[in-house]
Amino acid sequence: MDVALVRNRSNGSKTVVLIWCICVCFYFLILQMAFKNSSSHNHPAASSSSDPSVSNGEQRSILYDKMEKDLEEHGARFLQHGETSQSLLLSELFTVKDGSLRPVLKEAKPPVRANVLYLNPEYSIPIAEAVKHVFKSYFDKAIWFQNSSLYHFSMFHASHHILPVPATVEEVEAEATAVKAVAEGICPLKIVLDRVVLTSTGVLMGCWQVISGTDPISIRVKLRAALPHAPEKQLYDAAILHTSFARLLGSPKAASMEQSNQLQFFQELVSRLNDKIRGFEAFVSELWYVEEYDVLALALDGRLNVRRFQLGCNRA
Ligand SMILES: *[C@@H]1O[C@H](CO)[C@@H](O)[C@H](O)[C@H]1NC(C)=O
Repeated sequence: MDVALVRNRSNGSKTVVLIWCICVCFYFLILQMAFKNSSSHNHPAASSSSDPSVSNGEQRSILYDKMEKDLEEHGARFLQHGETSQSLLLSELFTVKDGSLRPVLKEAKPPVRANVLYLNPEYSIPIAEAVKHVFKSYFDKAIWFQNSSLYHFSMFHASHHILPVPATVEEVEAEATAVKAVAEGICPLKIVLDRVVLTSTGVLMGCWQVISGTDPISIRVKLRAALPHAPEKQLYDAAILHTSFARLLGSPKAASMEQSNQLQFFQELVSRLNDKIRGFEAFVSELWYVEEYDVLALALDGRLNVRRFQLGCNRA
């Protein structure tokens, strides 16, 4: 089973544009399974008052349990290229140039404005090394590794692709100022890697728990208050604290493997990685306000404008 990373584009640019639009939606759906049965968590004020017995940490555990089961329940959908449109689309994100995998960047109009917690390379580099050590030799070019200088936890979007909120230069400045004020009130987080999961769409991600510091649920509440024009519908569950490590784009090199064994093989690799890095602790002390000029710029090394704010832990 080989993977055609480079697709024939003879259908013309309209098709490419259409594919891109669907592709972006698909990407944002990757984590929206998190919304299943947890709609109340999208409204933290409601969830904290409706069920005070479930702690933020427990909410995350329940969510991660679901994410962990996704691959088993839905199979490796990223392998089913050709027949299901999605994985065809995922491979449209990349091309092979001079023997190496390159992202296909597309301008984001208007730019996406994302607020993310930043994972310092002090922590991201050892993780990235472990991820490569376990996965690289099996996947050759059928894997894209997240740039370890840009490991991040998506918190809240002032504008995203599904619901774009255009802003003037002045409005962007005002948003950045408001986010800086939020950062000053957030306490640095000590976090621990709860587990690594591989989704059915091929995204390998780290799911984290909070040991101390301001909980992501509270951070999102503060950001929503500071960014009143932001889309009501956000992309992620309010409790999640995750970072993408890599994207699998196709089958492992051992092409003779049966479909049923492949699932086991993926689970074995994820379990090997968990053995290496589960329990890894990190400190997070920066909130970034990022304008992404290309679609998925943070994930695909596209064009960015980053404003970095230190978490201050000041009382408002
Ligand atoms: C990774 O990100 C850093 C910081 O944005 C950038 O300088 C570097 O060129 C990126 N690496 C690759 C391979 O794109």
